[in-house]
Amino acid sequence: MNTIVSEQIALVTGATSGIGKVTARELVRRGYHIILLARDAAKAARVRQEFQQLAPSGQRVDVLLCDLSDLSQVRRAAEEFIQRYQRLDVLVNNAGLIFGKERETSTDGYEMTLATNHLGPFLLTSLLLPALQQSEAARIVNVASEGYRMAKPQLHDLNQKENYSAWRQYGNTKLYNILFTQELARQLRARGIGNVVTNSLHPGVVASSFGSASGGLTSLLTRLAAPFLLTTEEGARTSIFLATDPIGGQVSGGYFDKQQTKPVKHNFTEPTQARQLWQETEKLVGQEFFGE
Ligand SMILES: NC(=O)c1ccc[n+]([C@@H]2O[C@H](COP(=O)([O-])OP(=O)(O)OC[C@H]3O[C@@H](n4cnc5c(N)ncnc54)[C@H](OP(=O)(O)O)[C@@H]3O)[C@@H](O)[C@H]2O)c1
Repeated sequence: MNTIVSEQIALVTGATSGIGKVTARELVRRGYHIILLARDAAKAARVRQEFQQLAPSGQRVDVLLCDLSDLSQVRRAAEEFIQRYQRLDVLVNNAGLIFGKERETSTDGYEMTLATNHLGPFLLTSLLLPALQQSEAARIVNVASEGYRMAKPQLHDLNQKENYSAWRQYGNTKLYNILFTQELARQLRARGIGNVVTNSLHPGVVASSFGSASGGLTSLLTRLAAPFLLTTEEGARTSIFLATDPIGGQVSGGYFDKQQTKPVKHNFTEPTQARQLWQETEKLVGQEFFGE
């Protein structure tokens, strides 16, 4: 059953396509005031118009333009968000992709999969934390992937300057989403920030636009496999669950699959590893997460 909540503000990244689009749409239907974070203005305007027709009367759907791979855009978008809304109840860090065989770099000079899937969301979450703290009960939902199982994290070389492999780097960044969630939950607890919880998830293997940015074999295989994969509606279920279900507000630091907690591979549960990732990431984004 869809319960209407009043004045809950939710920001969903990567809301122009796939799992993020369905997640945002279902939150709109439930009465959330949705902000679609998107990099493509024309696409975002179309989605906004589509969603506005589904919104319960008077509820707004807004757009916040930002390319997450560009840290200066993340800073500008976070500033704009704080000025416009002050408070945030749900942040869904959903945007993510895999790049191609050749290593590409962002405007900041960082490897593109790392910049998009980890650095941008890390900085965005940090800069939106003051708004999340204004909420009575805020949730940060990080869309990771079972692809983390192929990770071979090189915490001294997050940018994979050596031995770049597209799939390994994708797996690494999805592991970083999980480790970031674990460490963020610990840090929030340690700082007595009890009104903000965070969890990560695997959406399933979903027929979306995933793989299209990588071209070549990955793109071809994902298109061929599409009829056998989950629909985007099925893929969005765990994100929606963590964003809205009472259970999603009671747990923090967890990893979820099919709306249930799932243990993370034992070699990736060591807090020192998550802490090292945190510190290396702070160096790359050029500021401390808690801004001290
Ligand atoms: N599909 C799967 O089987 C699967 C499995 C496990 C995990 N996941 C995870 O699920 C999440 C969503 O993926 P999806 O399958 O829904 O893929 P998708 O259909 O390709 O959607 C990805 C979304 O992210 C946005 N995006 C990409 N780069 C961005 C950037 N630099 N700045 C802002 N937005 C950006 C895209 O914007 P545009 O519309 O402009 O391209 C799009 O809206 C990802 O984090 C992915 O790793 C997917």
